[in-house]
Amino acid sequence: MHFPISPSLTLLTLPLLIPQATAWGSLGHRTVAYLASMHFTAQSNILTNVLLNGQDISEAALFPDKVRHMPAFAYSAHWHFIDARDSPPAQCGINMTRDCLAADGGCVVSAIANHTARVADVKLERFFRGQSLRFMMHFFGDVHQPLHTEAEGRGGNDIPVVLDGVHTNLHSVWDTAIPKKHAGGAVGGGVEGEMEAAWAWATRLYGVRDGMQEKECVSDAPACALEWASEVNSYVCSYVMADGYKDQDLNGTYYDGAVPIIDDLVGKAGRRLAAWINAISGQEGLALQTQ
Ligand SMILES: *[C@@H]1O[C@H](CO)[C@@H](O)[C@H](O)[C@H]1NC(C)=O
Ligand SMILES: *[C@@H]1O[C@H](CO)[C@@H](O)[C@H](O)[C@H]1NC(C)=O
Ligand SMILES: *[C@@H]1O[C@H](CO)[C@@H](O)[C@H](O)[C@H]1NC(C)=O
Repeated sequence: MHFPISPSLTLLTLPLLIPQATAWGSLGHRTVAYLASMHFTAQSNILTNVLLNGQDISEAALFPDKVRHMPAFAYSAHWHFIDARDSPPAQCGINMTRDCLAADGGCVVSAIANHTARVADVKLERFFRGQSLRFMMHFFGDVHQPLHTEAEGRGGNDIPVVLDGVHTNLHSVWDTAIPKKHAGGAVGGGVEGEMEAAWAWATRLYGVRDGMQEKECVSDAPACALEWASEVNSYVCSYVMADGYKDQDLNGTYYDGAVPIIDDLVGKAGRRLAAWINAISGQEGLALQTQ
């Protein structure tokens, strides 16, 4: 790995920097990446293999969560979300001026715009294109997590809830606990087990292929990312913060209602990511063939 930090520093600092709540947990991010790869063209397989130097694509998608708390990548911390300052559950909606442009360091919408452009920039050094591909894959996942598009209660981090008797918070159950309960596979399977569970989840979502007839937005990254963030943010009002999350264990009807939403959004994230990577690799097709 050619990160601009020494390996010993990485080992020393990582355990101290486990984030309180990360994006879609690693299961969700791996699934988005695997699902996208199932929709890749041959050119996209070549491009991603070259830019990721053969690294497993689901592992590559986790990179931004591993570095966001390191000083060298502090600038990337704001890129994982957009804090819509709306009033759920009564009123949801994103205002780019209020929720992103005014925020220090941008947001997930501007980050998607930045990193899709960098991945497509054939003049940029391959190492940096690879790093941007990792960011791009990760943020396509994050923008499809409803609580990454919401300011209320710090995206639900400050809202206590209980799932299966475990006291946690609303953000965390959407990132991690509900996806794990739904698609986590065997408990204690380590990294290999998680990759296997993610592959199985992606295969199921690929099998459904509901949305494949949809024409994905692939022409204008800032407009597409804003459209997705707005679509995902609407779930905060219609479900995530609507009712049924207070004063009861979420393992009943709340969980049952969340699962199809999560399947839908993880599916969309994977398909949209594939559409973008296919568009980028298609433009670059000839150049890649001669490498
Ligand atoms: C968006 O937010 C800005 C800054 O707060 C405000 O001036 C503008 O009126 C808002 N736009 C809409 C459509 O609400
Ligand atoms: C785009 O990403 C690069 C590399 O991560 C970063 O240096 C740059 O500041 C970003 N630009 C914007 C406008 O966010
Ligand atoms: C839900 O969790 C509670 C503990 O909070 C437990 O008693 C109950 O059996 C669980 N129900 C299901 C369907 O898992």
